[in-house]
Parts: sequence; C-alpha cells; structure tokens
Amino acid sequence: MKNKKHSNLDFRIMSFFFKIRDMLHPPIKKIINADIKQGEKVLDYGCGSGSYSIVAAEKIGPMGKLIAADIHPLALKKVRKRAKKMGYNNIETIQTDCDTKLNDESIDRIICFDVLHGISNKNNIINEFYRVLKPNSILSLDDHHYNKDQIIDFITSDGLFKLANSNDKQYNFIKI
Ligand SMILES: C[S@@+](CC[C@H](N)C(=O)[O-])C[C@H]1O[C@@H](n2cnc3c(N)ncnc32)[C@H](O)[C@@H]1O
Repeated sequence: MKNKKHSNLDFRIMSFFFKIRDMLHPPIKKIINADIKQGEKVLDYGCGSGSYSIVAAEKIGPMGKLIAADIHPLALKKVRKRAKKMGYNNIETIQTDCDTKLNDESIDRIICFDVLHGISNKNNIINEFYRVLKPNSILSLDDHHYNKDQIIDFITSDGLFKLANSNDKQYNFIKI
C-alpha cells in the first residue's frame, strides 16, 4: 500500500514549525547521539526540510555522502537549496516511498526522526533499512508519537535489529 504525502501547504507549515523546533532543540544533539562519523555514507530517511541532513552532512565531511530521502518533492527541493547555500557537495536527494533503490549493504548509518508514525506498513521500511545497511551498522530512530516499548517492538520484532542503546527517546538499533 502506498503512503500519502502531505499537501504542499501542510509541508510548508510543518517546515515553519521545524525552524522553531530547531532553535529550541538544535539538531546537532541527535546527530551526536547517532554517533555519525567523518567519511560515512548516511541515509536520512524522511528528511523533511533537512534539519538533520544539513548537520549530518557537515559531520561526515567532504569524503562522506549524505542521502536525503523523502516521499515529498518539496522536502528534497528544500534540502538541495539548503545544501547549495551551505556549499555542501556531499548531499544527494532521492524521492521514495520505502523503496530507496539504493544498493544492498551500501549505507553506514541511517537516521530516521519523526517519520515512522506516517508509514502504514512499517515492515516495508524496516526491511528496506535492513537491506541497505552494512552488517552491524546503526539505525538511529525516534518518534514521539510512540512510547519506548512500541518503538522497540516495531524495529526488533522480526529479528532484523536489536537495541544497542538509547538516549533521550532516541534509539540506536544495530543490524543483526
Ligand atoms: C514529521 S516530518 C520529519 C522530518 C525530519 N525527519 C525532521 O525531523 O525534521 C516526516 C517526514 O517524513 C516524510 N515521509 C512520510 N512518509 C514517508 C515515506 N513513506 N517515505 C519517505 N518519507 C516519508 C514526510 O514527507 C516528512 O517530510
């Protein structure tokens, strides 16, 4: 089943509120919790207007690659605009609804913040994360719409991931 994307107006309103959120809760904190390192290939799944993509792109540096993925074309347009403004050449964008078309085991780390609740068939995206991540790599995820037990159950119940650690409602899962 296909997932629905926001209207353009809803997306713009959401982006406005994220600007305020980012002033109150600087995105760097989640990037540090995700333990993103220089030179890594990172997938920001459900990147929205790119709050985390831009900070992650700075963290991985010019030898790394940040792939910003979203179902909404305005999200990707916004990320490209921000990347250009910052002078970052290490960001790629892909429009996707769970099927990223990335190569198997090609990604060092996935970040997925505040996205899971919008995905109707969670197994689709969890299987896709498993497919594209390198062995023993980390999926860092949060979603304030769910409690801790629900999140851990969604991600680990199929035996593809196990919880490595958590910090302030952000959960790092390791690919088994
Ligand atoms: C609440 S926003 C969070 C954006 C960003 N992660 C952040 O925290 O700033 C959720 C984002 O997930 C995207 N999204 C929803 N369903 C999706 C799907 N099936 N595939 C890819 N992106 C999706 C939405 O378009 C939206 O940009």
